[in-house]
Formats: sequence, structure tokens, C-alpha cells
Amino acid sequence: MRIEVIVNGERLEADVWAGESLLTTLRDRLDLPGSKNACEQGECGSCSVLLDGTLVCSCLVLAAQVDGHEVVTVEGLEENGRLHPVQEAFADTGAVQCGFCTPGFVVAAVDLLRRIPDPSEDEIREALSGNLCRCTGYQKILDAVQLAAQR
Ligand code: FES
Ligand code: FES
Repeated sequence: MRIEVIVNGERLEADVWAGESLLTTLRDRLDLPGSKNACEQGECGSCSVLLDGTLVCSCLVLAAQVDGHEVVTVEGLEENGRLHPVQEAFADTGAVQCGFCTPGFVVAAVDLLRRIPDPSEDEIREALSGNLCRCTGYQKILDAVQLAAQR
């Protein structure tokens, strides 16, 4: 089936199969590999995107469901060639090691800071509880979100 979706502000079309995930469509058909495929089961958060402004795991959303809707991926967070403040904060605090989890954390953190501009540590931990990282031990990720909130 053919779908039409607004991705990062651009109206795009794709031919997808009935059971195809949004994650597959983004990565394999729309040339947007920022969202990562780690578990494909909704367990790790590495595929996180905003669907009509709501944080979702794109591996759990059918591409067919987003026909006519709006998606923002990690690639769509920069503005006028500048990284989003959350992206800058991750780089500045060293919250990135292998980087596989980073797009998901960044999108989840952007979602958090839109809802709660000055979150407590508990609120950050709760908001990021659906994202897994095997490298950082999480402290620098917490630092990054706090720095982004301060900025
Ligand atoms: S790849 Fe979607 S939650 Fe892990
Ligand atoms: S930086 Fe490697 S999984 Fe998080």
C-alpha cells in the first residue's frame, strides 16, 4: 500500500507492505537511519520518534497507521543547521559512547522537556525508563538532560 506522511516537516510517500513497521519504513525506504533498530519489541527505546507529538517506539507502530500523520525523528530536531539543545548537551557531557541508544534518548528527552521544562531527577529517570543503554551507566545521560533543561 502507498502511504503519505509528513516526516520532519516534509511530505513524503512510500510503498509499504501491510505488516511493515514505521521503523523499517523510516530506515529502509525514507533514508532516515537515525532511529535505531535494536530489539524490535518495544523494549529498548532506540527507535523512539514523535508521532503527532507523542513519543512512540516506531518498531511497534505500523507504517500503515501513520498515513496522513506527522512524524519527527532525531534527524528532524536540528533547526537551521544547528543541533537541538538536547543534542548539544549529550555531546557536551559525554553522554554518548557507542551511540546506538542516543537517538532514542535524545527524542525521549526532547519529549520530556517539552512537557516538563525543569524536570526533577526522578522525573528524568521516569521519562527515560523506557530507554536502555549498555555503555554509559546512565549518569552522563542524566547530566545531559539536566544541562539541556538549564540551557
Ligand atoms: S527497536 Fe523499538 S523499542 Fe527497541
Ligand atoms: S552509548 Fe552505547 S548503548 Fe548507550
